[in-house]
Formats: sequence, structure tokens, C-alpha cells
Amino acid sequence: MARDLRGQKLVVASHNAGKVREIGALLEPFGIETVSAGDLGLPEPEETGLTFQANAELKARAAAEASGLLALADDSGLAVTALDGDPGIYSARWAGPSKDFNLAMEKVEQALKEKGSDDRSAAFICGLALATPDGEMDYFEGRVEGTLVWPPRGDKGFGYDPVFVAKGYDITFAEMEPDAKHAISHRADAFRQLTDVFLK
Ligand code: IMP
Repeated sequence: MARDLRGQKLVVASHNAGKVREIGALLEPFGIETVSAGDLGLPEPEETGLTFQANAELKARAAAEASGLLALADDSGLAVTALDGDPGIYSARWAGPSKDFNLAMEKVEQALKEKGSDDRSAAFICGLALATPDGEMDYFEGRVEGTLVWPPRGDKGFGYDPVFVAKGYDITFAEMEPDAKHAISHRADAFRQLTDVFLK
């Protein structure tokens, strides 16, 4: 794949407004124009993979093929140590069809209680796949370690942000200013790896 993405137009292969916003913000400093799969009316492929990598790659491949543009997909989630990595790739699904993350956070808390473990460590993981319309693929994976708090705190961010406190911090991701979260998040870590290769 061409090693410089600057000035290119890229489809963000996601229908999740929170992710599209964060990815757009991370790419903007490089002068990369982004358009979302939702804006282009692209179909949302079923996430049939069993890993972050498989799901990120299938989403990027589908968007690149359907749009004829470079496509970037993010598959991410919260991996809780005491729950053997759950909800993991099922993080969005734990919120149910109405995408209720209060419910998802309660399910995580309930599952931890049922485990009876006092290990509250967790990590956000972000797989990023970059696909070209002619089938080339690159993959990067980033993570941020932290612990889970209860009850949820803060109203910035999205998803599981209100229960996640990154290592070295005492406020949740949902209490942090977006720029502060972007500097240390799993998505930022994966992006740093991507920019090291494609935007040096
Ligand atoms: P998917 O990658 O679209 O399957 O969904 C990943 C899910 O993981 C999201 O819907 C969120 O619930 C959760 N998630 C991923 N990244 C973050 C984050 O930065 N903050 C909070 N939740 C996240």
C-alpha cells in the first residue's frame, strides 16, 4: 500500500457516531478527509469474526470494496480480566438492540459480582484495519490498561467510558476532556502505530 495517506479521502467503516467522531479527530491533523460508511449509505456487515482483528478486517474490506476508497475500520471493546476478556469483541452486543450502555455496564458489574473476584482490572483494546479497494490490508492493535469503578461517573465519551479509569488516573474516561482521552486511549495507541507506518 502507498505509504503516505496524506491528502487522501478515507471511509471510516463504522456506523457508530462516537467512533466516527474520534477517528475523524485523530486524522484531521494530517489533512485526511474522512467520510463515514453511514454517510455513504454502505451496508453494515455482520461481525462474524472471533477476534478484534478478524472483525476490523472484514469491516474495512467490505467498506473499501463497496466505496472504491481506502477504508479504515475499528473493532474495539472492553476486556475484563476476571471475566476472561469479556465482553471483548461482544462489547457492543452486551448493550442489546437498543444500544443501552447503562445496561451493558450493569451486566459487567453483575458478572463481576457473580465471579466473586476482587480483580477489577480491565483494558480497552482497539484493532484498526486499513484496506485498499484492490484488497491490500494492514492491521494495528492498541490498548490502554485500567480498572473498573462502580457506579458509573461522567457524561463525556461513549460506551463503557463512565466505568473505566485508566492506570495512573483517578477520573473515568467519561470525566476526562476528549483531548485528554484521545492522548492515552487504546484508539490513540493503535493510531500511533498506524501513523508511524503511513504518516511519518
Ligand atoms: P464494535 O467495535 O463496533 O463492535 O463496538 C465496540 C464497542 O466497544 C463500542 O460500542 C463500545 O461500547 C465499546 N468501546 C470501544 N471503544 C470504546 C471507548 O473508547 N470508550 C468506551 N467504550 C468503547
